Amino acid sequence: MKTFYDYYHNKVQLSLDKQQRFESNPRHVWVICRYQDQWLLTKHKDRGLEFPGGKVESGESPQQAAIREVREETGGQVQDIQLIGQYYVSGKKEKLAKNIYFARIDRLDVQSTYFETNGPVLLPTIPSKVKDNPQYSFIMKDDVLTHSLAYIEHHLS
Ligand code: GTP
Repeated sequence: MKTFYDYYHNKVQLSLDKQQRFESNPRHVWVICRYQDQWLLTKHKDRGLEFPGGKVESGESPQQAAIREVREETGGQVQDIQLIGQYYVSGKKEKLAKNIYFARIDRLDVQSTYFETNGPVLLPTIPSKVKDNPQYSFIMKDDVLTHSLAYIEHHLS
C-alpha cells in the first residue's frame, strides 16, 4: 500500500493489490480507458481533463457504474474491464473509497448529452507534467495516476 497527498493536500492511500481493499462496496469509481492505441478521457466542465468516473448509483455494482460512467461521459462502449485497485481519500470533511478500473473501449458512440462533461478527448500520451497543467483535473494530479499507469504498462499491456 502507498500513501501520499493529493492536489488539495488530502491524504490518499492506494492499493493495487486486490486482496487489500479499504471498502468492499466503494461508492466511487474511476476508469482508465484505452481506445485504438490512445487514452480516452473526458473534459469535465469544471475540473478539466480526467479519466471518466463518478458515483455508484443504488442497485448498481461498482463495475456496472464504471461501464455506465464511461458511456455517459465519453460515449465509449466497454469491451472489457478489469479492477486494478482501490484508493481511499481522507478529506477534511469526508472520506471516500474509489475503485480503479482499466477498460478497453471498442466503439465511441455520439451521445446527446455528456452530463457534466464536454465529452470524449483522445490523447496519444498522458503528459508527464500534468500536475502543473491547468487543463487537467485535480483527480489526475496525484500519484494514483502515475502508479496506475505504471501498473497497466507492466501487467496489462
Ligand atoms: P458531487 O456530489 O458529485 O457534487 O461531488 P462532491 O463534490 O460531493 O464530491 P465527492 O463526494 O465525489 O468527493 C468529495 C471530495 O473528495 C472532493 O471534494 C475531493 O476533495 C475528494 N475526491 C473525490 N474524488 C477524488 C479523487 O478521485 N481523488 C482525490 N484525490 N480526491 C477526490
